[in-house]
Amino acid sequence: IMRPVTSPHQLRLYKGNWINQFFLRGALAMQQHFKSRPTDIFLASYPKSGTTWLKAMIFATMTRTSYPLDQHPLCTHNPHQCISSMEKEFSIGNSQIIEAIPSPRVMNTHLQYSVLPESITNPDCRIIYVWRDPKDVLVSEWYFVKKIYMDVDEKATFDQFYELFCQGVGPFGSIWNHVLGYWKESKLRPEKILFLKYKHILQEPVKYAKKLAHFVGCPYSKAEENQGVIEQIVELCSFKKLKELDVNKGGESVTNDVHISYADFFRKGEVGDWKNHMTTEMAERLDAITKEKFKGSGIEI
Ligand code: A3P
Repeated sequence: IMRPVTSPHQLRLYKGNWINQFFLRGALAMQQHFKSRPTDIFLASYPKSGTTWLKAMIFATMTRTSYPLDQHPLCTHNPHQCISSMEKEFSIGNSQIIEAIPSPRVMNTHLQYSVLPESITNPDCRIIYVWRDPKDVLVSEWYFVKKIYMDVDEKATFDQFYELFCQGVGPFGSIWNHVLGYWKESKLRPEKILFLKYKHILQEPVKYAKKLAHFVGCPYSKAEENQGVIEQIVELCSFKKLKELDVNKGGESVTNDVHISYADFFRKGEVGDWKNHMTTEMAERLDAITKEKFKGSGIEI
C-alpha cells in the first residue's frame, strides 16, 4: 500500500510488519550479504526515538581519547555522518562503506528485531536499543516527514497520521512490535542488549553515559571521572550544543533525491511535546494501545 503523508515509497507487509520497500531492499541485502564481526555494536531504534543523540553519545564515548573534545569530529560532522545507517547503505548498494569501517564497528538500524539478519542476532554482537514514549515519537515523526515529504501529500493531516501510526502503518512497522522485539531479546541476553529509554537518559545523562561507556567496552577511568570527562561528553552531545553547530544548521544528506536537512534531526529534544498536539482522547487511546501491547511483558511504561 501507499501510506499517504509520509513517503513516496510503497509499504509492504513483511514478517507481520509494514516496511517501506526502500528499506526492505536494504534488509534483504543485509540478510544475504552482511557479515558481522564479534566486536560489532549496533544501535537499534524506531525512528524519532533518539537515534541521533545516541549516535553522538556512542561515537563521542568511543573516540574520546583520540581528539581534544573541543576539536572533536562531532563539532564539524552530523552524528549520522559518524555512524552509518545499515539498511540505507545496503539499499543503495553501498555495503562496502559498512565493510570498510575499522573494528570495533558501530552501525545503526531501524529494522524490527525479527527482520535483522542472523549475523547480527548472533550471540557475539552487542545491541544498544533506545525507545521513547510512542506519543512523543508520533509527534516527532509527524514534523520530520512533513519537512521531508510534504510535497507528496500537502493536505495530509495530523489526525490521518495518528490513525496510521496507531495501526502500525509506517516505514518500520508498529512501534509496539519494534520495542517488544528488542525488549524480549534483552531479557534473554541482558549482557548483549542494552535497553534504554529516551526519558531516562534525559533525566540522568551522566549515569547513562557511564552505562554506555561500560557497555561498549571503554569505561571511564577514575582519573577521567575526576577531570569531569563524562560531563564534557554529555555536554558535547547535548541537544543545545548539537543544534547550534554550523554543520547541523546548514548541512544535509541526500539519498535517492530525498534531501534531509541535518537541522531536522534537532527539533525540541523534550519529553511530553505530545501535550501540545493531541487531544486528551487521542493520548488516552494511544496509551491504552501501549498498555495492551506491553501487557505482561514487564516493560515499564
Ligand atoms: P523531537 O522531534 O521530539 O524534538 P531520531 O534521532 O531518532 O530521529 O530522533 C529525533 C528526536 O530526538 C527529535 O525529537 C530530536 O529533537 C531529538 N534529539 C536529537 N538530538 C538530541 C539530543 N542531543 N538530546 C535530546 N534529544 C535529541
